[in-house]
Amino acid sequence: MSWRSARFGAAASPRRCRSTTMGTPTTLTSFGPGKVILLGEHAAVYGYPVLAAPLSWGVTAHGFPGRRCELRIPPQVRGAGRKLLAAAFDRAASACGRPKVSVAVESDLPVSMGLGSSAALSVACARLLLQAAGKSAGAREVVRVAGEMEREFHGRPSGVDHTCSAFGKLILFRKKPGSRASIRAIESRRPVRILVTLVGRRSPTRETVAALKERQARWPARYRRLFREVGRVADEGASAVAQGDVNALGDAMNVNQGLLSGLGLSSDAIDQMVHRLRRMGALGAKLTGAGGDGGAVIGLFLEPEPAMARLTREGIRCFSSHVAGPRAL
Ligand code: MEV
Repeated sequence: MSWRSARFGAAASPRRCRSTTMGTPTTLTSFGPGKVILLGEHAAVYGYPVLAAPLSWGVTAHGFPGRRCELRIPPQVRGAGRKLLAAAFDRAASACGRPKVSVAVESDLPVSMGLGSSAALSVACARLLLQAAGKSAGAREVVRVAGEMEREFHGRPSGVDHTCSAFGKLILFRKKPGSRASIRAIESRRPVRILVTLVGRRSPTRETVAALKERQARWPARYRRLFREVGRVADEGASAVAQGDVNALGDAMNVNQGLLSGLGLSSDAIDQMVHRLRRMGALGAKLTGAGGDGGAVIGLFLEPEPAMARLTREGIRCFSSHVAGPRAL
């Protein structure tokens, strides 16, 4: 896995799924983008709206004709991680009728930092397996198969990560318990640009979600109030994007960070980076993804380049992305 520290507004390429026949045998290639949650993480698990955008970084899967349906897991992945990957792939393979394809994956996303690396992997594999099986690989089918893998990785995720990756668009997602997910694409004529920075180490999403669940079960009324407010902020942020009002989006991000702190999901390292990004001119800054001890922190900038250059000089891992508007994925 490689990490590209900087890619200035990389031109987004629709790297979905293609087959090549340069010599034999035919190979398939598919891509699953990583994601950032602009507003609404965690409350999403309890059925509230969440605003998420795809990144141009992600996971690419290559499929080669094989004797059976298999994932070539790199040798450096060992023990429990290896078993988990094999089990997750097996669920997707079985959902696609086990086409005879041998799948290799490569990623340019930082792993376990809140940028949807497992969802990107799940989407890349799902899209490729569906194609190899000669089935439709439309976004909804990809969501269904990738969801099998995500449930193996995370237990009971809201589904926002792999849905955003499969659709490859800024979406307002909501999955109320017991009903189908509602997915609304949010369009913006104005560029929405974020700087993604990585701080500290992060516990697995499954653990952060479980710890919050315990607090919520103990004090349900208080946590319901906070989740409801997070959901409202996500709705307001989506309207702000649609209206091209980046100041309102930035304010929503700042308020969301306060709520995430109240939910016990921030840390010293995250808070410091949030304040730093705001001092550097971010219109809004917050953690993104599961949070906890560390992970990804995002800042909304009109022009992220100067802040990115300064942080990069200091050895802080960061990159910028267009998440909505003309140059988004
Ligand atoms: C993780 O990217 C987002 C969470 O809200 C979990 C989920 O939605 O399943 C923390």
